[in-house]
Amino acid sequence: MSWYPVPIPSQAGRSVLVTGANAGLGFFTSARLARAGAHVTLSGRSAERLAAAVAAIRARMPRADVDSLVIDTSSLESVRVGAERLLDRAPLDAVVLNAGMVHTPAARLESVDGNELVLATNVLGHFALLAHVLPHLATGARLVTIGSLSTRLSTFRVDDLQLQRSYDAWRAYAQSKIASTSIAFELDRRLRRAAVDGAEAVGAASAMPRVHSLVAHPGYSISGRTPRVPGVNEPTRLDRFADALQAPFAQGKHRGAEPIVHAVVADDVEGGQFWGPQYATKGPPRLAMPTRTSRDPRVGARVWAFAEQATGLVLDPARVGS
Ligand SMILES: NC(=O)c1ccc[n+]([C@@H]2O[C@H](COP(=O)([O-])OP(=O)(O)OC[C@H]3O[C@@H](n4cnc5c(N)ncnc54)[C@H](OP(=O)(O)O)[C@@H]3O)[C@@H](O)[C@H]2O)c1
Repeated sequence: MSWYPVPIPSQAGRSVLVTGANAGLGFFTSARLARAGAHVTLSGRSAERLAAAVAAIRARMPRADVDSLVIDTSSLESVRVGAERLLDRAPLDAVVLNAGMVHTPAARLESVDGNELVLATNVLGHFALLAHVLPHLATGARLVTIGSLSTRLSTFRVDDLQLQRSYDAWRAYAQSKIASTSIAFELDRRLRRAAVDGAEAVGAASAMPRVHSLVAHPGYSISGRTPRVPGVNEPTRLDRFADALQAPFAQGKHRGAEPIVHAVVADDVEGGQFWGPQYATKGPPRLAMPTRTSRDPRVGARVWAFAEQATGLVLDPARVGS
């Protein structure tokens, strides 16, 4: 299969925050948006790794409008401090909720806040980030959560989200992606409801949500199929060899970033959608079908209530851009 990403429209004047942007999909998403002229804030947990990522983008694009912001999504305090810094900057046109523990620990660990670590990093930190930045979003902003094919390969234990009874490394990862996806779709439903309530209150005929929440997944995207970027992606020769064997069904992370970029910039995108690669694990972006569980409003409401309780934060869609 051969395809090359289509050029994307100019993003000049748009401001985007990407979490976990110092490596992998977050890095390539940031670089592509910066190349199109967006102002991109790369966030990550390590100032040094962020500096290397910003330097790598500037080495290719000296005039790229990029900066960095330390946010460790596993820590609610780090998220709060990082989000506060964003409030001095231009309102955000998009937030890419990408940071994630992919290689999850064999035994259950807890975050500084006492939540299961994979859940804290992949789900709760992003929920908290949204709760903080919702008032700082531009009209029409897109909130893009990174989903995963793993959501198809695991059951969801909504009564044990902290995995106190049933931890294993794979379940922790898959469960975190199901929970993230479920929250993203619940947010879409709540944003639409808030729009209807707002329109009714002023007697307006149309009820367009002011911002859009959707999900994009990268298929199966691996480092050894990804271009070398000094300080960002430096796979060993063995990694390259092993990953080449997976070429029929795997792609590089620069390609896996395409459905994410599409979700941020394309005209045919709206809240509640699920974008992914055309051939499930690889290929250009196309609209995909999320799992029934992740679309179930009863599941979404339960995960949402759990996230509010675990973070101690209220995510109020009526506060968008307030
Ligand atoms: N690759 C795939 O095939 C695939 C498939 C489905 C979904 N995804 C999702 O795509 C996202 C990115 O995956 P990837 O393949 O690009 O992984 P990756 O190369 O391991 O990159 C993960 C990024 O998240 C950051 N991160 C990890 N823990 C963090 C924390 N506590 N605070 C802030 N940032 C943190 C990492 O920073 P450090 O460098 O500091 O660790 C890194 O920047 C994840 O959400 C993953 O679940 C990936």
